[in-house]
Amino acid sequence: MMQAQLHCLCLLILHLATGYSHEGKFSGPLQPMTFSVFEGQQGSQVIFQFKASPPAMTFKLTGETDGIFQIQPDGLLYHNGALDRETRAVHKLQVSALNAQGATVQGPVPITIEVKDINDNRPTFLQLKYEGSVRQNSRPGKPFMYVNATDLDDPATPNGQLVYEIVIQLPKINNVMYFQINNKTGGISLTRHGALELDPTKNSNYNLVVSVKDMGGQNENSFSDSTSVDIMVKENIWKAPELLEIVENSTDPHPLKITQVQWNEPGAKYSLVDKEKLPRFPFTIDQEGNIYVTQPLDREEKDSYVFYAVAKDENGELLSIPLQIGVKVKDINDNPPTCPSAVTVFEVQENENIGSNIGTLTAHDRDEENTASTVLAYKIVDQIPAFPKEGLFLVQAYTGVFQLAKQSLKKQDTPQYNLTVQVSDKDFNTLCQVEIHVIDINDQIPIFEKSDYGNLTLAEDTAVGSTILTIQATDADEPLTGSSKILYRITQGDSEGRLGIDTDPQTNAGYVIIKKPLDFETVAVHNLVFQAENPEPLVHGVNYNSSSSATFKLIVTNVNEAPQFTQNIYQAKVREDVAIGTKVGNVTAKDPENLDISYSLKNNKRGWLKIDPVTGEIFTMAPMDREAESVYRVQVVATEVGGSSLSSVATFHLALSDVNDNPPRLATDHPHLFLCHPLQAPGSVIFEATDDDQQFFRGPRFTFSLGSKVLENDWEVKRINGSHAKLSTKHTNFEERVYSVPIHISDGGEPELKGTVSLPVTFCKCVEGSCFRPAGHQSGMPTVGMAVGILLTTFLVIGIILAVVFIRIKKNEGKDNVEIAQACEAQPLRN
Ligand SMILES: *[C@@H]1O[C@H](CO)[C@@H](O)[C@H](O)[C@H]1NC(C)=O
Ligand SMILES: *[C@@H]1O[C@H](CO)[C@@H](O)[C@H](O)[C@H]1NC(C)=O
Ligand SMILES: *[C@@H]1O[C@H](CO)[C@@H](O)[C@H](O)[C@H]1NC(C)=O
Ligand SMILES: *[C@@H]1O[C@H](CO)[C@@H](O)[C@H](O)[C@H]1NC(C)=O
Ligand SMILES: *[C@@H]1O[C@H](CO)[C@@H](O)[C@H](O)[C@H]1NC(C)=O
Ligand SMILES: *[C@@H]1O[C@H](CO)[C@@H](O)[C@H](O)[C@H]1NC(C)=O
Ligand SMILES: *[C@@H]1O[C@H](CO)[C@@H](O)[C@H](O)[C@H]1NC(C)=O
Ligand SMILES: *[C@@H]1O[C@H](CO)[C@@H](O)[C@H](O)[C@H]1NC(C)=O
Repeated sequence: MMQAQLHCLCLLILHLATGYSHEGKFSGPLQPMTFSVFEGQQGSQVIFQFKASPPAMTFKLTGETDGIFQIQPDGLLYHNGALDRETRAVHKLQVSALNAQGATVQGPVPITIEVKDINDNRPTFLQLKYEGSVRQNSRPGKPFMYVNATDLDDPATPNGQLVYEIVIQLPKINNVMYFQINNKTGGISLTRHGALELDPTKNSNYNLVVSVKDMGGQNENSFSDSTSVDIMVKENIWKAPELLEIVENSTDPHPLKITQVQWNEPGAKYSLVDKEKLPRFPFTIDQEGNIYVTQPLDREEKDSYVFYAVAKDENGELLSIPLQIGVKVKDINDNPPTCPSAVTVFEVQENENIGSNIGTLTAHDRDEENTASTVLAYKIVDQIPAFPKEGLFLVQAYTGVFQLAKQSLKKQDTPQYNLTVQVSDKDFNTLCQVEIHVIDINDQIPIFEKSDYGNLTLAEDTAVGSTILTIQATDADEPLTGSSKILYRITQGDSEGRLGIDTDPQTNAGYVIIKKPLDFETVAVHNLVFQAENPEPLVHGVNYNSSSSATFKLIVTNVNEAPQFTQNIYQAKVREDVAIGTKVGNVTAKDPENLDISYSLKNNKRGWLKIDPVTGEIFTMAPMDREAESVYRVQVVATEVGGSSLSSVATFHLALSDVNDNPPRLATDHPHLFLCHPLQAPGSVIFEATDDDQQFFRGPRFTFSLGSKVLENDWEVKRINGSHAKLSTKHTNFEERVYSVPIHISDGGEPELKGTVSLPVTFCKCVEGSCFRPAGHQSGMPTVGMAVGILLTTFLVIGIILAVVFIRIKKNEGKDNVEIAQACEAQPLRN
């Protein structure tokens, strides 16, 4: 029986402990060896045949045989029962060789049997049921609990490699998984959805069925187990506190606890993050999550803060999203009102009425707006001098508006009052200084130093901007006020506004300036009247009189001026082929001094034109070419005859228009026009003509006619529009060939040009609406017809293919040739 089982050696994997190759050999001398044997095999299994060498006769086995391993006296090592790796993974055996007398002659030699794993154990969860809890909004992927299964098989082989999986999640809404499991560790965590959506107020209890499989989950023969996991979702206590209010300028000892944050589990590491990157960040957090302000805040420096509280685990990883903490700094009244400036100045005119508004004092307060800390009250506490009496002014308590309280003021009494004004907020008083200047009223008119500035003679070409005269009036009102400032106007003698007057604000001197060119020819003498006025109105009862005006005579002298053309640019248009000597235009210039004028041309580069020096008429003097110069530009010069010979220049543009010098022709050189032969009814083709002259403004205007009277019996031409015409047959009796039909085309141009074209019309058999005609029909020179023939060959090839199809279809009827012709005729005529 042992011998019979030798074939089972194939189940053994042999390897030699001593290192020399023994593979494939199942017998050999006694020496230290290691064998690997799969567990779980029933019956007797041969491991090795030891060969005895004299004096050794028999073998003996000792060690961890567990009653399973045995050796026969002849050296055959085997086991007679199933091994179990989970009971003993390695059996250490010793084999000794004995002589005939039973004495050991070799050994004991160590023989190691490694039991190889087979997947003979199921994975088992350590618990039938697991319970865990998770906080709302926990970080996805961070395990909050573990399930754990064991498998007795060798974890170094797939047999012991376990894979966890969530099989069922209850409840599961919209097929969204809130939980995930690490398939190696069994760690259960939230998914991203779970972190966002789990809400204990909606549903706090979830149940999972988790499975575990061995064989790495990859083998369909793997064993599995499953367990139930109950998960309770708990409220997240990692929550941002409400907006905090901290009173500024606090005198409490700092640091001062202002709020607290807390991670869901103990052991979190807390820190604060200042995203505003403040130079001075006045908050800290301790490891209990208490948040402190480290120093008094100042609302006027910064009225709110936003920062983040962060919780991390021991590895420095964020436990959850940081919490945003907002702090509003609450105002206290810690700022006194401030005056708008060291001294505020108001002006009051003499004689202003009681109640007149003098001005407004606006003090500021840095404390929070629209609070009691910034409601300011004004009060006058002192008036210097108290003359003619106290309390001349009042201020509206909350607006700061100053008014005259008791009487009109007189500058003679006091030109300036100094007021001390108290401005108060809830807790602070500030004193502001206000000066009130009493200013004169406009009761004095400006008086010219003289009533006549005499006369001045100027050339008409005196430069614009020149100051030609300085005038002066004085005003006795208070200097540097609108009552004494003087504005000068010219009331007579300058209706065209050629002059203007600027006033020096310090001295009230007026400078008469030329604003537009003087012109002897228009106005030779300006009799000017100047009027001096104040910007402020005069008081009632005082009026400007003649002392506020002055006269001046400006005499403009003539200057010889150049002739003036009536236009800067003259334009004309002629046909390019006009005869030499044709008048193409004229120019006209006038001399302001009425001198005679002589005309000439400049830049007459091509010498095409000449000008009559007396009349200004312009003539051609050479053939012109539009293609060389479509617009010919010359300058015309007008020169005074005699005198200073002043001249001026204008431009003459002569546009040359195109001449119709191309006859009409066909738009396509070889129009592919055909009619299907034989004609069933009279047919027609459409063709298009063109012209190389580009002189049409509204498209071509061709007319068409037959080129030969003889053909009028066969053909007819009708115009469709300016470019297209229709050629129709008058009967159906045409041969199967190309007809060349002469057509007259006239372009209706100027002059009218006519062309005669030969229009090729092919009569051919048709297939599928295309011409079907054998090539080489026409012999001799390559002609238009040839080209058509070659073109038609293409159709022929296609036609033959179609014909063959037809022939095959119609074969049985025995009328092949006729059928092709019928197919052709069956096509409807084009047009
Ligand atoms: C699972 O259980 C085994 C045996 O009790 C233990 O050695 C192992 O650490 C456990 N694994 C986890 C993730 O708890
Ligand atoms: C286990 O999870 C890892 C990563 O999550 C994945 O790559 C692997 O395919 C999973 N194994 C099985 C058997 O599902
Ligand atoms: C704090 O208040 C006191 C008066 O109460 C004031 O003098 C001081 O300037 C204030 N400090 C700040 C920073 O506002
Ligand atoms: C008012 O104050 C100014 C300084 O601001 C001073 O020069 C002037 O003398 C004062 N006038 C009176 C009447 O005190
Ligand atoms: C210009 O003024 C002078 C005196 O300054 C006088 O003799 C002369 O007649 C005046 N000319 C005219 C045109 O008024
Ligand atoms: C114009 O009025 C002023 C006073 O306002 C006076 O001095 C002057 O004589 C008057 N001039 C004439 C011409 O009446
Ligand atoms: C000059 O041309 C104008 C039109 O521009 C015409 O009215 C006038 O009669 C022409 N003069 C001569 C002398 O041809
Ligand atoms: C002239 O008639 C032809 C044929 O009807 C057409 O294709 C073409 O557009 C027409 N041209 C104009 C300018 O109407």
